[in-house]
Amino acid sequence: MKLTLLIFILAISWSLPVAAKDGTTVLITGANRGIGLELAKQYVAKGFQVIGTARKPTKAKALNALGVTVMQLDVTDPASVAAMDKALDSKSIDILINNAGYLYRKEQTLAAVDFEQVERTLAINSIGPLRVIKALIDNLQSGQNKTVINISSNLGSIENSRGGFYGYRASKSALNMFNKNLSAEFAKQGFIFTVLHPGWVQTDMGGETATLTVNESVTGLVKVISGLTTTDNGKFYDYTGKQLPW
Ligand SMILES: NC(=O)c1ccc[n+]([C@@H]2O[C@H](COP(=O)([O-])OP(=O)(O)OC[C@H]3O[C@@H](n4cnc5c(N)ncnc54)[C@H](OP(=O)(O)O)[C@@H]3O)[C@@H](O)[C@H]2O)c1
Repeated sequence: MKLTLLIFILAISWSLPVAAKDGTTVLITGANRGIGLELAKQYVAKGFQVIGTARKPTKAKALNALGVTVMQLDVTDPASVAAMDKALDSKSIDILINNAGYLYRKEQTLAAVDFEQVERTLAINSIGPLRVIKALIDNLQSGQNKTVINISSNLGSIENSRGGFYGYRASKSALNMFNKNLSAEFAKQGFIFTVLHPGWVQTDMGGETATLTVNESVTGLVKVISGLTTTDNGKFYDYTGKQLPW
């Protein structure tokens, strides 16, 4: 009887969200503008310890104004990733949000495909997040939440695709697969690797006609992240928590 109760309690606690306490450390890539900057703002307001990265930290005025730790990071540059890893040393990271991303718009047809742009897009959107995760896995391992959010896109859903955006769609599909691999490899250690689609958002990337304000999107993303449990490892959701098809 006692053993059954113990197993029940363990099973419940295993799938409960890891409550974020003041001092929970979240590292956000591409935090100098757009969705990344708003994530930094909202996590500061929640009392998290925020590390925001920027390719050019001295130019990241809005991010610096938040009083967060700002670190230099170009996700395509192995030396930059290694330098950030070295500077972090053994600091625990509770939540990593791979948000930095790139969209080349003029890639709607085969004729318009520009291979340099495809390579750049894959380097930033797919290989970049994997490189950052590889560098920070020990910091995440010692964190409380062991949570990695890869900001993907509905455009990376093969099932939902209607064509166009050659490089961008492929880059986000690849990111989704990297996430799936990681979720399988690190499940036993209690990690949560989840891909999130932020919606179509009014940023430099999304443009003025996008349906969501950055505040609406990020409010949703933060809510979804706060409710994640190990049962969400390897899943794909949008900013409302709706599951998306691969
Ligand atoms: N906006 C949307 O509608 C939408 C929809 C679906 C998914 N997403 C995804 O959401 C994420 C954020 O998008 P956003 O709309 O906020 O885009 P954004 O306004 O264009 O901001 C992109 C961010 O990524 C950074 N970045 C670009 N290349 C980088 C590199 N090589 N290394 C490090 N950082 C780099 C940028 O830094 P710099 O300022 O130095 O360029 C900037 O901070 C992206 O992953 C995007 O694919 C956005």
